Order: sequence, then C-alpha cells, then structure tokens
Amino acid sequence: MTTILRHDPTGTWFLQGATSSYVLRVEPSGHLTHLHWGPRVEPGAIDWFTPTFDRAFCINEPGGRDSGFALDTLSREAPTGGNGDFRAPMLGVVNADGSHILDLRVVAQEIHAGKPRLDGLPATYVEREAEADTLVLTLADRSSGAEVVLHYTVFRDSDAIARSWRLTNRGSGSLRLTRALSASLDLPHCNWTLLQLSGAWARERQVVTHALVPGISSVESRRGTSSHQHNPFLALLAPGTTEEHGEVLAVNLVYSGNFLAQAEVDQYGHTRLQIGINPHEFTWELTPGATFQAPEAVLVRSGEGLGGMSRAYHRLYRSRLVRGPFRDAPRPVLINNWEATYFNFDTEKLLRLAAAGAEVGCDLFVLDDGWFGKREGDRSGLGDWTTVNLAKLPGGLQRLAEGVNALGLRFGLWFEPEMVSPDSDLYRAHPDWCLHVPGRPRSEGRSQLVLDLGRAEVRDHIWGMMTTILRSAPIGFVKWDMNRHLTEVWSRQLPPHRQGEAAHRFMLGVYDLLERMHREFPEVLVEGCSGGGGRFDAGMLHYHPYIWTSDNSDAIERLRIQHGTSMVYPLSSMDANVSAIPNHQVGRRTPLTTRATVASTGAFGYQLDLLALSADERAEMRQHSERWRSLRHLFHHGDLHRLADPMTNRWAAWMCVSPARDEALVTCVRMLTEANTARLPLRLRGLDPARTYRVQVETLREIPSGGGAAHHAPVHAVFTASGSALMGIGLRVDSPGDFIASTWHLTAV
Ligand code: DGJ
Repeated sequence: MTTILRHDPTGTWFLQGATSSYVLRVEPSGHLTHLHWGPRVEPGAIDWFTPTFDRAFCINEPGGRDSGFALDTLSREAPTGGNGDFRAPMLGVVNADGSHILDLRVVAQEIHAGKPRLDGLPATYVEREAEADTLVLTLADRSSGAEVVLHYTVFRDSDAIARSWRLTNRGSGSLRLTRALSASLDLPHCNWTLLQLSGAWARERQVVTHALVPGISSVESRRGTSSHQHNPFLALLAPGTTEEHGEVLAVNLVYSGNFLAQAEVDQYGHTRLQIGINPHEFTWELTPGATFQAPEAVLVRSGEGLGGMSRAYHRLYRSRLVRGPFRDAPRPVLINNWEATYFNFDTEKLLRLAAAGAEVGCDLFVLDDGWFGKREGDRSGLGDWTTVNLAKLPGGLQRLAEGVNALGLRFGLWFEPEMVSPDSDLYRAHPDWCLHVPGRPRSEGRSQLVLDLGRAEVRDHIWGMMTTILRSAPIGFVKWDMNRHLTEVWSRQLPPHRQGEAAHRFMLGVYDLLERMHREFPEVLVEGCSGGGGRFDAGMLHYHPYIWTSDNSDAIERLRIQHGTSMVYPLSSMDANVSAIPNHQVGRRTPLTTRATVASTGAFGYQLDLLALSADERAEMRQHSERWRSLRHLFHHGDLHRLADPMTNRWAAWMCVSPARDEALVTCVRMLTEANTARLPLRLRGLDPARTYRVQVETLREIPSGGGAAHHAPVHAVFTASGSALMGIGLRVDSPGDFIASTWHLTAV
C-alpha cells in the first residue's frame, strides 16, 4: 500500500509514516497549507479544520475580498513573502521588475513510486521503488513564471520524510533567488522546547535546550561549512519529553555549507519551523529556463522521545544515506599517526608504528598530514600533492604502503584537497585559484587559503593530482580533511551581480570531487574530517561512511561530544580513537579500559605512540581490539538507547541492542565521583521482556597504591535475568573512582 494517500473531497494529502502523519492540503485558492504533523491519523480525520482565520490588521489573500482568508494567519507549507505573510519565508526572489513577490499556487499534483535523485547534491535514496513514495507538487507564480516543484518522500516503515524542491524560471525575464530554505512548516502552538547541537572546535555538538519565546530562535553557519559551532539540525520537544517518552519534531539538512535552522513564534503563538541554505550573502540568478535545486531536509517525528527520533535518523542514514561497499562492511580497526608523531616522522618510524599497530590488532594504518610538498609544519605545502617528501619517505609512498601491507595492514593517506598554502608551488603557479577579492588582502587561517572549487579547472587540477597519488601506491583509505572556514568568498568566474552564488558553488564543487572519488575509487574507504568534527553532517555522510568526530580525543570530553552527535548521526559514522595520557587536548589521565570503552562506541582505532607503551599495555590493547571486533555489529546495526545523559549527570550510560533483541551491550562511564554516593539505577531498554539474558559484567576497580599512581584491576561477574526485570528494575551501578567504565554484555539464553 502506498504511504501517501489523497482524500479527494478536500484535496488533502496524508503522508503516512510508521506511527505519524504529515498532512497537507491544497486550498481552493491553490495555496498549500500544513494541517498536521503528529500521531498517525487516517484520511478524512481533519476535514473540519480551517487553516486560517480573521484577525485585525491582517491582509486579505492577494486579490481577495475575504478577510477570513489571510496569509499571515494561514498555516502554510512553502511560504513566500511580499503579499501578506509577514513571517519568515521559505523562498524569496527578486523579480525582473525589482519586486519581491512570489505568489505560489499549486498547479499539478502527482505521486511517484520510489524517490528521484537530486542533481549534484547528496541525498537519501532508495534501492527499490517499493521502499518509498514521493508526492510531487508543482506550484507556479503566474506573473513571474517561477515554477517550484516540491518533493516529499515518505519511507516505508519509517517516520522520516525527505523534502526538497527545485525552482525553474519559466518566465521571460530574469529571476534572482535570495532565500532558498529547503523546508518550512507551521505548527499550531509554541509550547516547545528547542534542542540544538552547538559548541566549538574540540567541543562539537553539545546538547543545548531552551524554551521558545516570541520571535525567532535560530542556529546557523556563515563559515562556508556546516561548522563546529552549530549543526544543521533542530528538534522541538513537547512538554515533558524525555529520552523515552513524548513528542519530538526534528529537521536535519543534508548539506555541508552555510545553513540556517530556525523556529519562529508568531503573534498568535504558532511556530514556523524552517531549515535550509543560509540566506546570508546568498543569491542565485536564474535566466529564463534555468533551474535551482535546493538541498534535501530530512524531517523526523517521534512519539517515543529523543531516543525514538535518533533511532529513526540512524536507521535511515546508515542504510539509505551512506553508500557504497563500505556502507554495511565492518569498520576496520585503525592506527593513525597524527597524535603519535604529528609532522615528525620518517618511513622507518612509521613502519615501526604500523608494526605495533599490527600487534595491537589493527587492520589499517593511516598516514596523516605532512607526507607531501614542503610540509614540516602547518605553514606550507598544501596543494603540492604530487610532491611526496622523499627526505622523510625514501622510496616514496609505494615503499611505505607496501611495507604496511606486508605487516597485514591496509594503507591510508591524508589529504586536504580544498586548500592551498601561500607557500606552495600550486599557489605560486596559480595565485588566482583561491577564493579572494582582487585588490584586497587574503585572510589566512592555519596559514592556508581556500581553493575556489566552484571553478571546474581548479577542481580538475586537484583531482588530477589526487588520482596520480592514489594510483601510485596501494592506498585503500583516504582521510579527507578541511581545516579552515571561508573568507573573501568571491569567485573569478562570476560577474559582480552573481557573487552571492560563490559559497554554494564552492560546496557543489566539493561534492563533485567527492562524487568522483566515490565513482572512480569505490574500493577506497573515505573518512571525512574538518579540524575534527567541523563538517559532521548528513551531506558528508553521503560520501563518507564515517567522520573524525572531534579533534578532542579525551575519553571524558568525548562522552558529551558523542552523546550530542548520536542525537542525529549513527554510531557507525563516528570515528573514535584511543589516545595517549595525559591527553593532548585537556591533559587528563583516564584508564586504558575507559579510553577503549568510549572509543568502542564508534568506528574504533588508536591514535597514539604505541611504541612508547609497555608490552602489558599493548597486550591489553589487543584484547580491546578483539573485543570491539566481536561487538562492532551491535554498534553498527543495533538500536541505540541513551540511558544517562552526560550533559546533566556525573554519569554517561547507553546501550546498543541487536535488531533481533538477542544481544546487547550496556556501557556506563563514571565521570567525577563523590563520597558516600547513591548507586545509579540503570533501567535497560529495547530488550525482549519475555527472554532471559546472560549478563557478563566487566568493570574496573581502582587499586590505590600508597602514594604512587593508582592502577586498575578488572572485575568480572556473570548473572542471568529476564528482559522484563532488566528493563523494569534495572541494574544498580556502583563504580568507585573517577573515569571508570563498566560494561554489561547481554546475550539471550
Ligand atoms: C585536523 C584533523 O582533525 C587532525 O586529525 C589532523 O588530521 C590534522 N588536521 C592534520 O593537520
């Protein structure tokens, strides 16, 4: 049965999710209205509803005399401005006559099986038409000739809806797009708590909540990337919503550049929820016949609290956003040399590190920054990709890669393709290839400039260099980094009146390069990175099965970062590594088991000088690698349940349950402890209440050692309990000492 139903008597569309409905109506005037996004209702359920009402000072519908039909009180989808709706529009234009009016009325309505692709942009997809249906609504502005085709894809057995649109100029004059948000919808009240993921470099995606107030609450990026500072995501939580219970409405943008996400509470207490490309400095010229494709927004409604929202995003993203042979493949255990050596390495040192990596159970060795050009530090060399530093790497990449392969590990390599150092041969040959404004200084960040990847000749040159290197040695992995934000966003290829396109064209250029990577090197696993998690977004997940979550590798700091990231993005998409103590970002010392336990929750690996460790520590690491290998299917394919929130507790706890509910891993990490404290009651979730589980407990006990550093001894125990007891009564967690991790491995008997 189709997931999209039309109720003919009233022209109402019901987009039917697993437990939710999203209801739209084409009004007799042709305006598209939003009637409901909430618990599932059946066609006909909302015939009685009038989406507008008469209020003083409201402007009648354009050309109309009925004061009862006013755009400013109308509950709208795809709102525009200039003729009576004074709230924030989804789309804005400047017409050939200089006016800003866009009066969109529905002119065609269709349902298609499956889901169409988005030209040049990342998006969710289907593998078979039967997996989804798409409602296609065509709206037109008769005066200007603007035609907007809205797409709503409903995924079967899911509460996710993908929205996007494309605008074609079917008129005879030019059209300038000034606002191109991907989704907008109006909700009937403002009694919501807004949840956003905000932070900074090394402190990405911290969960922040606050009540809505009249006016606009927003998060955005003007940095040319989705950014460390805010994520392109917002959720609205109904009163009393928790991790497990209550209603959540969420929007997430499948895009990696400037974005805006906002909730506007209007004078009547309605909430307009929107997400899309940031209108800041954005314009797009559409000559007659030209088309603009807006990025996709993914909307999720949960009636099972934040946990339900996250699981809906995780299921969709790990199976129908991530692509390619690595989508379902087990993630390798990696050793990356960055925090082990920084720029100070040579072939022999790297091979010793790789050999130690093999000893601790790694599958992959990744050579990070510093292997090319004149790159002894971060002040030079970016762009000189084909000049391998033979002083450091005699025999070049081939000798190193083959040496790594001989140890039984695959070889991976770091690139930062979007950048150029002013001190580089590339820059000396092509000083005009970076984003810059002629006659003005070029602002450097980390001593580097951003290439104008909107230009095809720049992309082709970079791609040529990358392919030369990728074919020069057995390279099975690429870490694709991006280490500064965009300034002087101006492109030589555009005339002055089109410079508002430069930032989006840069992003389209990055996607084009990533698409080439995906097409031409499908056997290469490509990891995303942007100074850690500065571009951790759904757009990037279409090209990268996983992303380096943060440059902060401290296990305790990572609890909050990974907790926030998991709100939207699956655990399989988060690269997490065991790093050294004292930790390089915060100086903290945490037990190895805790570091391994926290890193285990994502794509697991090591990023520290293994050669500086004792044989005992390396033996313990090997056990951690083996344990992760035996459990990674749970993190990759299982359902996540967050049990204790590290933003508000001294504990973080979560569990992953296999799809068949016959296996689960519960993890709890104690942050700072306190004296004489209560035990943490931990009710488990997602288990089968009727089954009995064998529970293997593993925790650490701190052994004080008279004046010296404390050391830790593992404690193991086994018991059996029913799923109903584990969920209804739960565990009682008691872990003495700071930064202690405990796990419970459940297997159904
Ligand atoms: C930033 C990344 O996040 C690090 O992991 C490392 O690759 C450096 N860049 C290298 O310059």
